[in-house]
Amino acid sequence: MKRILVLYGTLHGQAAKVAARIGERCRAVGHQADVIRDRDLPGSANPDDYDVILVVASFNNGRYPKALTKWIAAHAKPLSAMPSAFFAISGAACDPTTGERDAASQSGPFLTKVGWTPRRIEHVAGAFPFTKYSWFEKWVMKTILKRGGHPHDTKVDYEYTDWPKLDRAVTGFLDTLT
Ligand SMILES: Cc1cc2nc3c(=O)[nH]c(=O)nc-3n(C[C@H](O)[C@H](O)[C@H](O)COP(=O)(O)O)c2cc1C
Repeated sequence: MKRILVLYGTLHGQAAKVAARIGERCRAVGHQADVIRDRDLPGSANPDDYDVILVVASFNNGRYPKALTKWIAAHAKPLSAMPSAFFAISGAACDPTTGERDAASQSGPFLTKVGWTPRRIEHVAGAFPFTKYSWFEKWVMKTILKRGGHPHDTKVDYEYTDWPKLDRAVTGFLDTLT
């Protein structure tokens, strides 16, 4: 049994859903998992408190969450030395053709900047929960989605996350732990 931290940063909750699902998968195969939001992480929290760290972060307005970025940058060395994985949630990853490439162009520079080398990087398609958006967010996201030829009804919450794919990625990673 491993002690696993599932650390997440979110704006409208999709990364929280993904983190909760990952935590469930970890527990289902006998591990102990703490699922904690970046801003709730105690200042004293240290990678040494865990055997494995899984980071779930959403990409909004061209960046990943600040508190999460700060913690990873501060602990990049031990994180890179231990089993760790990065689940990067984005709108870009929702596109079946360009998604992987575009999402990698977000995660790559971020990982270089914070100095973290996770063992696995998974680009996860996010969601567009229009009913949770401010009027400005509604307008921006509608414009972007419309331009790309995607559904953009502002009364609808769209979810593109492929849960079976996520489960397979998590199980695959957990299988590598000794
Ligand atoms: C205000 C806003 C800005 C966004 N900016 C980006 C972006 O720069 N790049 C991108 O790929 N997706 C972008 N997205 C899409 C989000 O990554 C996607 O909705 C994701 O599921 C958000 O997860 P969260 O709810 O955990 O924050 C944006 C969404 C919103 C609402």
